[in-house]
Amino acid sequence: MSETIFVDGILNGRVAFVTGGGTGITGGVARALAEAGVSVALVSRKLDHLQPAADAINQNGGKAIAVVADVRQPEAVENAVAQTIEQFGKIDIVVNGAAGNFLCAAEELSPNGFGTVVDIDLKGTFNVCRAAFAQLKEHRGQILNISATLHYLGTPMQLHVSAAKAGVDALTRNLAVEWGRYGIRVNGIAPGPIEDTEGMKRLVPEPVKERLRKGVPLGRFGRIADIEKAAVFICSDAASFINGVVLVVDGGHWLTGTRLG
Ligand code: HXC
Repeated sequence: MSETIFVDGILNGRVAFVTGGGTGITGGVARALAEAGVSVALVSRKLDHLQPAADAINQNGGKAIAVVADVRQPEAVENAVAQTIEQFGKIDIVVNGAAGNFLCAAEELSPNGFGTVVDIDLKGTFNVCRAAFAQLKEHRGQILNISATLHYLGTPMQLHVSAAKAGVDALTRNLAVEWGRYGIRVNGIAPGPIEDTEGMKRLVPEPVKERLRKGVPLGRFGRIADIEKAAVFICSDAASFINGVVLVVDGGHWLTGTRLG
């Protein structure tokens, strides 16, 4: 994040469990939380993604550990939660960012292709919320789910992802209602097209990029830093009465109806 927009140490003493926290948007969110004073557990399938990200945070004066777990496996998630508590003593922030994605026309998508993305994005988010619930309840913590704007309209080649992310938004709203009584806030961020991500490089073909950019009213693609700032705000006490919100951070893009296909 690096720019000083927030008061130093605004989240001092908190502990976050961040899935997909090694790379991309959620990697940035993890780094920004660490800069704001949060001890972060970076969780995903691949240690070679996680370890460099954790090392960078630690070298920068933050506190991070790398924890290998596939969010599709409830037991692995429970173990990752236990490791985080062992290391940092508690969990009071959960960020669900682990996501699968590929471009595929609906008529060519196999049941396993559809199911794999739903398993990672939607069921993985549930598995993590479920495993962290006791900690969140004890510490009046919060959940931040990263979704998308794909499902607000129809997005070609993204049926599986749109369905999964729509489900994630449903989890956000339902858990906000059910767990609010425990003081747990549950919110989401729906990023629009973010330029400095692997997803954007891999999923948006060059010729489509310019058209997509023109469809953003603010005239530029988002940056990971834009999502980082929104995440730090939602996780901070400035947002203490914000619950069940999916904050769209897209420069107004989805409203223009410009899609991938
Ligand atoms: C069609 C595909 C496919 C492709 C995989 N599958 N890639 N089908 N086109 N390109 C199908 C496979 O054929 C198989 O079905 C099923 O999906 C499972 O594939 P596996 O490779 O066995 O699964 P796995 O290794 O567990 O994971 C697959 C994966 C994952 C989901 C594709 O590797 C992945 O997502 N990697 C990229 C992660 C990523 O980029 N995350 C950022 C997301 S960005 P069959 O029937 O053959 O068995 C994001 C933001 C959205 O989400 C905004 C976008 C603009």
